[in-house]
Amino acid sequence: GQKLIIDTDPGVDDAFAIALAALSEDVELLGVTTVFGNVSLPDTTRNALRLLALCGRSDVPVGAGADRPLVHPQRSRATRIHGADGLSGRSSMLPEPTREAHRAGAVNLLAELLETADEPVTIAAIGPLTNIALLLATHPGAREHIDRIVIMGGGLNGGNSTPVAEFNIWSDPEAARRVLVAEDVPCVLVPLDLTLRCAVDSAWLAKLAAAGAVGSALTALTPDYVASYRKVLGFDGMAMHDAVAVAEAIRPGILRTEPFPIEIDCTSGPGRGATLVDRRPGLARDEAEGPVPAGTVHVAVDTDLDGLRAFVLD
Ligand code: BDR
Ligand code: CA
Repeated sequence: GQKLIIDTDPGVDDAFAIALAALSEDVELLGVTTVFGNVSLPDTTRNALRLLALCGRSDVPVGAGADRPLVHPQRSRATRIHGADGLSGRSSMLPEPTREAHRAGAVNLLAELLETADEPVTIAAIGPLTNIALLLATHPGAREHIDRIVIMGGGLNGGNSTPVAEFNIWSDPEAARRVLVAEDVPCVLVPLDLTLRCAVDSAWLAKLAAAGAVGSALTALTPDYVASYRKVLGFDGMAMHDAVAVAEAIRPGILRTEPFPIEIDCTSGPGRGATLVDRRPGLARDEAEGPVPAGTVHVAVDTDLDGLRAFVLD
């Protein structure tokens, strides 16, 4: 199966994304690396270890990475949505980790896993892009081992952290710009516009809860998260942002993508963290124009919504 590394800041939706990959037979999960984001790095790291223990996958190495953005201090965490511990205050309901984080840290673990893999590896980046920016800057040779980077981030029609910025990009715009614009590495961007359309309702969550120990433990993490999304979604349900990106990483093509030029606003004004995706029709690229240049990103624009939900549940 496809080889995969997940870079993450768990996070309730990250928890779903990690479980999806950890339990999927279609993918070989080589490692999990953690980054600051929804909560602090020690908390995201501990949550990742606990989630892998829940899935019976303590064999998967975890590397702790950046505890702050590249250039500016972190502006805000997402504790209002994900709880003080990142998992709705319920992380202690998960099993205690049976191993510790890898000594080498996230960037070295990423480099080592990539360089020793015998085929190209997909990276699913579902938190701020700091670790990935550092990897590309410090291990230029790693690039040739990356099949593609599937990123949950950005918004074509506005953000969730600010009117224009989505949380993962907002958390480290300079890192996002390095990865999405400056480096010549194939990226798929899975923006809010699509992840919100993929939200699941309480009937879906009830099916997950009934599906076994992992499903019921994951569902137990969601009540506060569901409550925090009530106004956004207009119904009781869950935005499983990061799981949508990991679904694409596991099953390439489950999301329909289109190539567009992109820029990231790294100014310190009100536009900071915006993903400027150039969708002007006159500039649309043709497949026949060959490989897309750096600064072009494959943006996930659509999917079979029920098919995607069924895939994640399954
Ligand atoms: C993204 O921000 C985080 O809060 C979620 O885990 C997801 O990665 C959604 O904007
Ligand atoms: Ca996340």
